Amino acid sequence: MSDKLYIFDTTLRDGEQVPGCQLNTVEKIEVAKALQELGVDIIEAGFPISSPGDFESVVEISKAVTWPTICALTRAVQKDIDVAAESLKYAKKGRIHTGIGTSYYHIYKKLNSNPEAIIERAVEAVKYAKKYVEDVEFYAEDAGRTDNEYLAKVVEAVIKAGATVVNIPDTTGYCLPQEFGEKIKYLHENVSGIHKAIISTHCHNDLGMATANTVSGIINGARQAEVTINGIGERAGNTSLEEVVMIMKSRYKVLGIKTGINTKNIYRTSRLVSTLMNMPVQPNKAIVGRNAFAHSSGIHQDGVLKHRENYEIMDPVDVGINESVILLTARSGRAALKHRLEIMGYKLSKEKLDEIYEEFLKLADKKKDIRDDDIALLAGDARRKEHRIKLDFLQVLTGKNIVPAAIVRLDIAGEKFDATSTGNGPVDAAIKAVKQIIRRQVSIEEFLVQAITRGSDDIGKVHMQIQYNDSIYNGFGAHTDIVTASVEAFLDAVNKFPVSQ
Ligand code: KIV
Ligand code: ZN
Repeated sequence: MSDKLYIFDTTLRDGEQVPGCQLNTVEKIEVAKALQELGVDIIEAGFPISSPGDFESVVEISKAVTWPTICALTRAVQKDIDVAAESLKYAKKGRIHTGIGTSYYHIYKKLNSNPEAIIERAVEAVKYAKKYVEDVEFYAEDAGRTDNEYLAKVVEAVIKAGATVVNIPDTTGYCLPQEFGEKIKYLHENVSGIHKAIISTHCHNDLGMATANTVSGIINGARQAEVTINGIGERAGNTSLEEVVMIMKSRYKVLGIKTGINTKNIYRTSRLVSTLMNMPVQPNKAIVGRNAFAHSSGIHQDGVLKHRENYEIMDPVDVGINESVILLTARSGRAALKHRLEIMGYKLSKEKLDEIYEEFLKLADKKKDIRDDDIALLAGDARRKEHRIKLDFLQVLTGKNIVPAAIVRLDIAGEKFDATSTGNGPVDAAIKAVKQIIRRQVSIEEFLVQAITRGSDDIGKVHMQIQYNDSIYNGFGAHTDIVTASVEAFLDAVNKFPVSQ
């Protein structure tokens, strides 16, 4: 069996399904290019039938990316497959990923069908997709809870129909590592023709076992792993790319399996995805969390200083965390900021860099310890400047035993509008003033405030979910002033409303 593990990245499909993580096409292209530089073999670029935006993203990513295979998801439905094939027309190497549920629940309770009919639909879908592309991947949805004997029949039938890759998803994150490994082994031992296809893992993390299950699948013969950057994805997420890749690298002597990933790009890709998707990485996240290589106890610090490998099983430099990072302060120049932004995956024009540098200096005056998260937010802020509706001025009056009040000025496509309001708090007052100007019937469905790092001088990050005309819009804002961050988040969402409405 080959020692090469194909890395199939689904950050832009399964990862992007997470509420609040949606990207526009330009941002998706930026992520796709970063994934290409990282060295992933396959990029799942979207589910083209699901929306015109997804369709367009697959088209544009196909044009922008040169060598990874571009994959488009479908159900086992002819129309889905037609649309996916159309979206892949510019792909240098295109793959259609089609499939259907195979567990008892999916067959009887979701599809209202029976096992034989499901096999027929699976075979038809693969044959239909084969009319368009040579490379067809089949997924047996909820394979984790599918009876192995029946799963083997499905896998055999789709390989016979021409599937080049067969995906065995643990859709609900239910399997134990040993069970999942045995499932993959069972397929290898009981499916005739299995050597004609690559078996893939696609594990969800509902019980925190996604990576363990993936590794168990690989040990038992899977040679493609479906993963996302930072493990983002539906509910508790998908298997994280950085974990699988670094397990293969760190434990090569035991596992004997290689990936084509340029591991030095892991950290910058992680930062890019976290920033663009507004999804903070938990501090203790393996490989890419801010504490992943931080030693705080005296005994550990002493041990690492004596010999790095006393407490470190990986070299942070191998994942692109440069230990000799230049500390950014108010005295840092443009070159230091540019260097840091490049490490984090941002390639900016001179004008954009100048813009961010201005903001950086303002922030450095307020906050002595500038971290990557702060820089990422500044880079995000530069994007925000392109908004049609911008916050021009904000003043709030708040405290104990007074009625909070706000004065707001918005710049709407170059014209200035003022409003004042009171509220039950400064955020309420400011948002009410904004609503007076924009005159839309909106309701705030979610309002989440987070400090990015630590300390009372920290940047506060706000996520707002707004309902308008039966649709939900997500907005994000970040500022050392929490009221400003809230108004920015509100406006970020409002700027996503269709312009005609
Ligand atoms: O989790 C899953 O089963 C999926 C399939 C659509 C591949 O994401
Ligand atoms: Zn999934």
